[in-house]
Amino acid sequence: MNDRGDDKPTRRKFLAAAAAGGLVAAAGVNREVCAAIDAAPATSTEPFFGLHQGGIVTPIQGHTYFAAFDLVSERRDKLIDVLRSWTLTSARMTAGQPAATLDDGAAGPPNDTGEALDLPPARLTLTFGFGAGLFTEDGRDRFGLSGRRPDALVDLPHFDGDQLVSALTGGDLSVQACADDPQVAFHAVRQLARQSAGIAQIRWAQTGFVPAFAPGQTPRNLMGFKDGTNNPSVNDADAMERFVWVGGDGPDWMRGGSYVVVRRIRMALERWDHAGLDLQERTFGRHKYSGAPLGGRNEFDLPDLDAVAKDGNSVIPDYAHIRLAAASSNGGLRILRRPYSYNDGMDFTGGRKSAPEEGPDYDAGLLFVCYQRDPRAGFMRIFEGMSKLDMLNHFVTHTGGGIFACPGGVSQGEFIGQRLFE
Ligand code: HEM
Repeated sequence: MNDRGDDKPTRRKFLAAAAAGGLVAAAGVNREVCAAIDAAPATSTEPFFGLHQGGIVTPIQGHTYFAAFDLVSERRDKLIDVLRSWTLTSARMTAGQPAATLDDGAAGPPNDTGEALDLPPARLTLTFGFGAGLFTEDGRDRFGLSGRRPDALVDLPHFDGDQLVSALTGGDLSVQACADDPQVAFHAVRQLARQSAGIAQIRWAQTGFVPAFAPGQTPRNLMGFKDGTNNPSVNDADAMERFVWVGGDGPDWMRGGSYVVVRRIRMALERWDHAGLDLQERTFGRHKYSGAPLGGRNEFDLPDLDAVAKDGNSVIPDYAHIRLAAASSNGGLRILRRPYSYNDGMDFTGGRKSAPEEGPDYDAGLLFVCYQRDPRAGFMRIFEGMSKLDMLNHFVTHTGGGIFACPGGVSQGEFIGQRLFE
């Protein structure tokens, strides 16, 4: 029986049937995280409640729908109502339930839009974040929270080469839905957006995907390179404490939380596809097919940044992506990357090319998502040098994104970020 008391399908029931019939593996749930060695659990649900929010160290799901919301009401009680109902609804949806009890015969619109009803939970996670505008907007303290803004929730500076489009940038709240089915991810954000109508409305959203890579392999991005090889392992609890989770140094409501930096990075794929293999490999500092660092043989060989070739030049070029991004080039600092590819068709505007190259462009690239304990000792610090020197900059443009404080995880009976409002 479902929660209406009848025998109509629920997503949980589908899961049970699918598991019995061996369909779960076929549904593609046995994926791996960015660090290729971290195998995903063979279940179809991810926990919603816990010390940390889901969707940060969760083995990466196949699809994401990332949405940033603007708060369009200034009422603190209404904001709290939204966070409360988002929490309850998220707990239901991640467990494979519809957003609310289905309401046959009701006069108004259905409680749940319905497109995920016959689908398994698909390891749905929902990760919530708070942007700077929740604390102050144009100097105004809209919700009585101005004194609570964490120092680490910085306004990112303009980086060299940034071409951020305002309509794709910023936001007061963020919701990152990740699932092994794109319709489950979209459905989840859609239900939350319906519930917050008149209080929070979507400012920008971006879909993303990773390919269905085999266990033990690292997924490739749209430039054809393995992406995630040298990510810290989510199974390395020490590294997660050190680089990802906020500890006693942050405000109480951020303890066990993390900061997410998101960048919509468009790739000039037409230009990339005309670049020789040697240039492509020198740009990243890795071999394309094996993923090995230049000078190495295997994907997981440690890059030797000191190696010098016979001609006196560095084997891994001075401005190669992995050299500039390496922990050893950035005072030992690391971030946890959770990137997705995106593919939004193509357009004719571009503006990134000189006249002879003008023409239709793919609007495709990377939805770069990274988590860190403090962006000042994470993205901001690492990207500062990269934005000036990285050879990859010839082929990519940052067009949007945001930075959000993702509070610690939720306990039963609490709502997301509750301790911020106490
Ligand atoms: C379209 C944009 C980007 C693409 C296609 C890309 C791709 C890659 C690839 C192929 C690698 C090597 C394999 C690996 O270890 O994962 C890598 C490494 C890395 N990337 Fe990126 N990346 C992009 C943007 C960024 C940005 C904006 C940052 C910002 C901080 C960044 C940070 C890193 C880091 C920290 C590493 C690991 C370096 C190491 O220690 O070896 N990437 N990236």
